[in-house]
Amino acid sequence: MAQRPFHHYLIDMTAATPPRNLFVTTALPYANGKFHIGHMMEYIQADIWVRFQRMRGHNVHWVCADDTHGAPIMIAAEKAGKSPQEFVAEIAAGRKQYLDGFHLSVNHWHTTDSPENVALAQDIYKKLKAAGFIFSKTIEQFYDPVKGMFLPDRYIKGECPKCGAKDQYGDSCENCGAVYAPTDLKNPYSTLSGATPEMRSSEHFFFKLSDPKCVEFLRHWTTSKDRHGVPRLQSEIIAKTKDWLGEDGKMGDWDISRDAPYFGIPIPDAPGKFFYVWLDAPVGYLAALKSYFDLGKAKAGGELRSFDEFMAAADTEQIHFIGKDIAYFHVLFWPAMLKFAGYKTPDSVNVHGFIQMGGEKMSKSRGTGVDPLKYLELGMNPEWMRYYIAAKLNANVEDFDFTAEDFMARVNSDLIGKFVNIASRTAGFLHKHFDGKVAADESSASAFPHTAVGQHAEEIAKLFEGREFGKALRRIMEMADVVNGYYDVSKPWELAKLAAAGDSTARTNLHAVCSHVMESFRLLSILLAPVLPELSKRAFEFLALPPQTWADTSKPMPAGHAIRAYQHLMSRVEEKQLDALLGVLADTPESKKSEKSTKPESPKNGASSGNASGKPIASGVQAGAASANVSDNGIIGIDDFTKIDLRIAKIVNAEHVDGSDKLLRLTLDVGEVDANGKQKLRNVFSGIKSAYAPESLIGQLTVVVANLAPRKMKFGVSEGMVLAASGKADDNSTGLFLLNPHAGAQPGMKVS
Ligand code: MSP
Ligand code: ZN
Repeated sequence: MAQRPFHHYLIDMTAATPPRNLFVTTALPYANGKFHIGHMMEYIQADIWVRFQRMRGHNVHWVCADDTHGAPIMIAAEKAGKSPQEFVAEIAAGRKQYLDGFHLSVNHWHTTDSPENVALAQDIYKKLKAAGFIFSKTIEQFYDPVKGMFLPDRYIKGECPKCGAKDQYGDSCENCGAVYAPTDLKNPYSTLSGATPEMRSSEHFFFKLSDPKCVEFLRHWTTSKDRHGVPRLQSEIIAKTKDWLGEDGKMGDWDISRDAPYFGIPIPDAPGKFFYVWLDAPVGYLAALKSYFDLGKAKAGGELRSFDEFMAAADTEQIHFIGKDIAYFHVLFWPAMLKFAGYKTPDSVNVHGFIQMGGEKMSKSRGTGVDPLKYLELGMNPEWMRYYIAAKLNANVEDFDFTAEDFMARVNSDLIGKFVNIASRTAGFLHKHFDGKVAADESSASAFPHTAVGQHAEEIAKLFEGREFGKALRRIMEMADVVNGYYDVSKPWELAKLAAAGDSTARTNLHAVCSHVMESFRLLSILLAPVLPELSKRAFEFLALPPQTWADTSKPMPAGHAIRAYQHLMSRVEEKQLDALLGVLADTPESKKSEKSTKPESPKNGASSGNASGKPIASGVQAGAASANVSDNGIIGIDDFTKIDLRIAKIVNAEHVDGSDKLLRLTLDVGEVDANGKQKLRNVFSGIKSAYAPESLIGQLTVVVANLAPRKMKFGVSEGMVLAASGKADDNSTGLFLLNPHAGAQPGMKVS
């Protein structure tokens, strides 16, 4: 190895710095729909950063909430025949499955339709008013006389004033591209009632953004640095704010009121007037944090102060994660509101680009792309998605495209091929030759890949800190390459042969090599933990270590430490899972047929069965033989069921199949004898390799579909199918579980 040995680890610097107190937020999603992958991307970005900070010993309070107010939600609720409160409560109830599903460690989820938000929004307003930043004036606006409400522009359509195209929105023409005001439309109509809108006047309240004090504050705030000397905004955003703030007089004042009926927060001393949703939405960040403190949830994280004390503390850092489409609100309106109401202003606003598909924005309205819930329901591993998204992210405001090929390559080649394999290929030697213990004396090998990894921990920390996740993962994978290269040139398999033949030097070297590789695996697991919390947790369990923090990168594993038996850590993503996710296999009989005939024994999971419920399913896709008799509601008669000959089988042998990364070859005793009375065994290929080491299955009983027509496969003929359950395991990972009868069952017994 060219690697120079280093006999020490770098000293960890985090212990020397006092813990930071971080108040972190992600944008509050509109409570009028389910999450889409764009939301998940934002939360995954924030979660990685938050987990990294926690591993560094910092106190992080990450809160989020549903953004509930405004006309669109009011109208959607009405259409659904619900009160707005009922409507948003139903949306809120659906959030947890996504947050848990993608291992998002948000501390508290709240709502903008809450007493905290009412109190805080009204307080901020009153203070802005007292400081002279609020004024009112009468404006003219379209009014729907049938609905009895003023119409937001988006609910007005009409004929383009330029080309006459019908049904154009109030701001621009999709036909000729003309840009105009809603009042310019010819024959305007309300999309809510069809009525012709009337112009009516009404008093509105405004926030005086054009005030020179405000403009001056924003010019300074947007270009200044945070307490760590880092610009609080990214350069792309600073460039935008320069443009927005422009020459003097360019900043318009902001209309912050809406007339009843409106689902929102009443404006004090102004009957019938409500705050425009974008005024109370960011206040929701504070409301969520207050609720979190008031509920005592912050104390669970070691925070002994109250909300007020926390917000007043000089060392509290307020950090927002948002997408580029809402930067304007967050870098102009929001800091100005806070500043002139005498509240703390944000430390930084981290803006990300959009995840797209084929260059198109992914969102619910388009209905394209990756549905996060479907992803989970298909039993796909959430940490694949976390890894993939992390690999695509950087600190800039850049969009990226989701592609299935790229997803597969990152997950299978990098994450599994480079990282997970380090553990699986090394553990066996340690267990077989050294009782699972790492070497007591680490000075006996000639190279130390783990010190190379340990040395780079601070470099990786800087990348996580600066949200350069893609770069961090590239560096980590380069280190994994070094470790794998060390493994390959050290040839532990040859050392093992020599050791078995009595060569004691080979034995010492084997121990050293495996110990160094295992130590490298531990270090890599720490570096990856912000991105892959569950995988790292399982890695530490396998290593028989407590949860590791960043400081553990500078402390080696105890000499002679014993690790546990290798447990399967993560499966590879399969093309058909991505096909199912992206709807590539349209639900036509044609495509179903071809899948059945070409993939008789695909492993487990949801891609073919959609069984997140964890119901037992056949470990193949052949189960539809009797589908002709299945009634519309999916109910079958007992006759249909008894057609399936289920038998107890004893696995007398199990082995890997050369050239297949999914299948195991099982030899089954199903209690059968041939014409000469000799025991007859069956050969069955089963897609359970991801979940079971073949040795562990030998001697076990399971259930087999015994009357399935034999299938010719690439690797031989399969004479049946064993049954397994698949779905989400306790720890949220994708699990695959072979059925196992109670003691006493004998090979060949009928199962009914
Ligand atoms: N309710 C407002 C935010 C109020 S914050 C005080 C809102 N909600 S949203 O549901 O439309 O968007 C929530 C977040 O998701 C925003 O930060 C938005 O930029 C982000 N994303 C929406 N689509 C996205 C992608 N395709 N990719 C990445 N993020 C995207 O805006
Ligand atoms: Zn036009």
